[in-house]
Amino acid sequence: MLEKIREAISEAEKFTATTLQEVEDFRIKYLGKKGILNDFFAVFKEVPNEQKKEFGQAVNQLKQVAQERVDMFKSQLESKLEDKGVYGDLSRPGDPISIGGRHPISIVKNQIIEVFSRIGFNVSEGPEIEDDWHNFSALNLPEYHPARDMQDTFFIQTNPDVLLRTHTSSVQVRYMEENKPPIRTISPGRVFRNEAVSARSHCIFHQVEGLYIDKDVSFADLKQTLIYFCTEMFGKSKIRLRPSYFPFTEPSAEVDIYWGLETETDHRITKGTGWLEIMGCGMVDPNVLKNCSIDTDVYTGFAFGMGIERIAMLLYQIGDIRMFYENDIRFLEQFKSAL
Ligand code: PHE
Repeated sequence: MLEKIREAISEAEKFTATTLQEVEDFRIKYLGKKGILNDFFAVFKEVPNEQKKEFGQAVNQLKQVAQERVDMFKSQLESKLEDKGVYGDLSRPGDPISIGGRHPISIVKNQIIEVFSRIGFNVSEGPEIEDDWHNFSALNLPEYHPARDMQDTFFIQTNPDVLLRTHTSSVQVRYMEENKPPIRTISPGRVFRNEAVSARSHCIFHQVEGLYIDKDVSFADLKQTLIYFCTEMFGKSKIRLRPSYFPFTEPSAEVDIYWGLETETDHRITKGTGWLEIMGCGMVDPNVLKNCSIDTDVYTGFAFGMGIERIAMLLYQIGDIRMFYENDIRFLEQFKSAL
């Protein structure tokens, strides 16, 4: 008897089909009411007790093999037919399609754009590969200016210099060259700096820089814009401006937001002071306006720039900047529901 079952198993294992009818015939032959399997089950009673275990196992194996063959060929042949547009079983469940999510950098970038677009800023973009003029010289950083070392640069070619932009201020220069004031624009984009990669900094990151040029633009306008932005973005509006230096703005400031001292996380990200630096800003240096043929007797303006990663790290409490670029699905999936 065992022999017979074994034979049936090896026969079932060899089964192949080219039509659904063949699969159905095979199913009836093995698994149908009057099929081989039921025949074996019917004689089970008569099998001597000491052989029952082995017999049972063999019959189960036969059942499994036959069912696998049926399932395999059925789905193969059905999907072949579906490719041709013929649908047999319309109630068959579909294959689930897993939908991706937006990357946290895109989420935060879009949010920043949204906040500024509500107060009349448009979006401008420019090339990642830049010349010396747009990344440095036009921004009041002449050759050999020591402040060029503030941003370690990746050069693609020297003399004339071609480089990876170190900030999106280069886009602002391009925008001023091509548009007349009033100007209200933000420039999001990827930037590059030759820095050691660590939990806090990366050689590739993203910025949003803003530029506002019109008649009678003052530092008070800059400050109010920053308060508006921080309130919309973080729901907190306590900021402070610390005097700083950028070659392209005068006066210049660093913007700190009060992140609080309440929790352990706050202590870690603010190093215990409660304050956290989120961007640089200032009144556009008249030299920059002149370089872009803007009349400094009529116009003034302000500019600011921030790193998107840093803002995203604050909003989502991400402790390591490298996570943004590792494409670890466990990290990315956490942002699926966010738009
Ligand atoms: N471009 C500066 C940077 O990348 C940021 C900045 C922009 C500062 C505009 C002041 C005004 O560090």
